[in-house]
Amino acid sequence: MSKKSKTHQDGDPNTTGHSWDGIEEFDNPMPRWWLWTFYVCIAFALGYSVMYPAWPMLTRATPGLLGSSTRADVAAEIQEFSDRNAPIRAKLEAADLTAISADPDLSGFANNAGAAVFRTWCAQCHGSGAAGAKGYPNLLDDDWLWGGDIEAIHTTITHGIRNTTDEDARLSEMPKFGVDELLEKPQIEEVVQHVRAISGQEHDATLAAAGATVFAENCAACHGDDGKGNRDLGAPNLTDAIWLYGGDVANLTETVTYSRAGAMPNWNTRLSEADIRAVAVYVHGLGGGE
Ligand code: HEC
Ligand code: HEC
Repeated sequence: MSKKSKTHQDGDPNTTGHSWDGIEEFDNPMPRWWLWTFYVCIAFALGYSVMYPAWPMLTRATPGLLGSSTRADVAAEIQEFSDRNAPIRAKLEAADLTAISADPDLSGFANNAGAAVFRTWCAQCHGSGAAGAKGYPNLLDDDWLWGGDIEAIHTTITHGIRNTTDEDARLSEMPKFGVDELLEKPQIEEVVQHVRAISGQEHDATLAAAGATVFAENCAACHGDDGKGNRDLGAPNLTDAIWLYGGDVANLTETVTYSRAGAMPNWNTRLSEADIRAVAVYVHGLGGGE
């Protein structure tokens, strides 16, 4: 039994013949504008897939007739940039280290390039502002373990410190006075009080006086008779308020008992000579350069 639908009137286009509870489906043609848009899209897609990288193959996509590649664009831009800087980088590599600061072009370039190198390679240890942290020296102040003129800084960065990968790395080893039983516990207490005394901190005068002898016999060879340190050995000045590991009794006792051996990689295998020089100029210019 079939009833004629209310919506189906004479003059309406044909239906598909489907009817469901009296609801019928018109069989209208697609609107022309829609159909044409659809054809244009197909034509565009075909054209695009011929001209541009499109179809995935085994190792790479079809390259397309135009040879377009954003990767190649980036590589070209990088190449253009480094070509533009090549002359000044060559100049930086050839320059006398001490003469760089006198050449405004060169030192300007070195400072900018050095800041970028520092952010990428040095900031994780020395801090983004180069202020350091426990065990990682502050590079902003004029307190240097290994020397603060441009040549010393350049050598430190090139060869690193206490690493096993560069024969010319800066080396020195403070003895483990406690662990290796070079000093008795009371002697360590005394010498710690002596270090507190020479660094102008609160201390026990009796212990410190005894500690002076311990210091002269065991420490002065590296830290100097007056405790002002020795840059040839990377032995810090113990008379100032600047501490690499801490100047409180607990840290001093730990340092003397176990010793410390801060290490830095050599950068000559990772950075170009121009980059090393740039970052040396940058560090030298941070405030503490000599
Ligand atoms: C893995 C951590 C680490 C990284 C990365 C690092 N350093 Fe160091 N750096 C150290 C440590 C630790 C010392 C101190 C070693 C010591 O106790 O003598 C040091 C010391 C130095 C010194 C000597 C400071 C002084 O007082 O004589 C300079 C200069 C220096 N670093 C520059 C750099 C530059 C420039 C970079 C980046 C190219 C860099 N460092 C990256 C750990 C690091
Ligand atoms: C063979 C040389 C040598 C001798 C001997 C030596 N030191 Fe050192 N000392 C060093 C070096 C090198 C460092 C730096 C270690 C580092 O940078 O990681 C150091 C670091 C220290 C520090 C850490 C300073 C800071 O800024 O935190 C203290 C404190 C210290 N020494 C005290 C002593 C005392 C006290 C003695 C004697 C009992 C002594 N040292 C003997 C080489 C020596």
